[in-house]
Amino acid sequence: MAIRRICKYGEKILEKKTRKVNFDELKKELPALLADMFETMDAVGGAGLAANQVGLDLNLAVIKILREDEPALSIVIMNPEIVERSGSMYEEEGCLSFPGLFAKVRRSAKVKVRALNEKGMPIEINAEGLFAKALQHEIDHLDGIVFIDRLPLMSRLKIKPALMKFKAQWKKIDERKMKPDKL
Ligand code: CO
Repeated sequence: MAIRRICKYGEKILEKKTRKVNFDELKKELPALLADMFETMDAVGGAGLAANQVGLDLNLAVIKILREDEPALSIVIMNPEIVERSGSMYEEEGCLSFPGLFAKVRRSAKVKVRALNEKGMPIEINAEGLFAKALQHEIDHLDGIVFIDRLPLMSRLKIKPALMKFKAQWKKIDERKMKPDKL
């Protein structure tokens, strides 16, 4: 297992719709890839991570929701599709590709998602609350949409200075991290 570098806002791969997964083609590499994705997400305390956030053009994501008095809910979604949505919520969101930045985003309160799981089997998920939020956020990533794209224009303008400041910091973090590899 290995922790992978997470792409930050501004990197082109985050803006591109990902390629549908062909399960048979991917199944040999999949266990190691998923283990890396969960490890990477856990290392930074994330609730979800899309493959394109670790530089892979694949329509798959992992989600891990911590729950009180219950084991964490861990799930793999491949080629997911939202087939039903209802209600509305307006809650704070963050993203591993925007470390430190948070903004309130409007989402559906409940979603029904069809996808393939890590075994290539079709699954149907009914989610609400944090789980529904994570599903919508990750499925957006796979479509090349990041959470700030969901903000109304005025909010996007308002966070722009903070975003620019963070961007400069992220560059420094990455340069620091890259150094040992270069030696
Ligand atoms: Co994200």
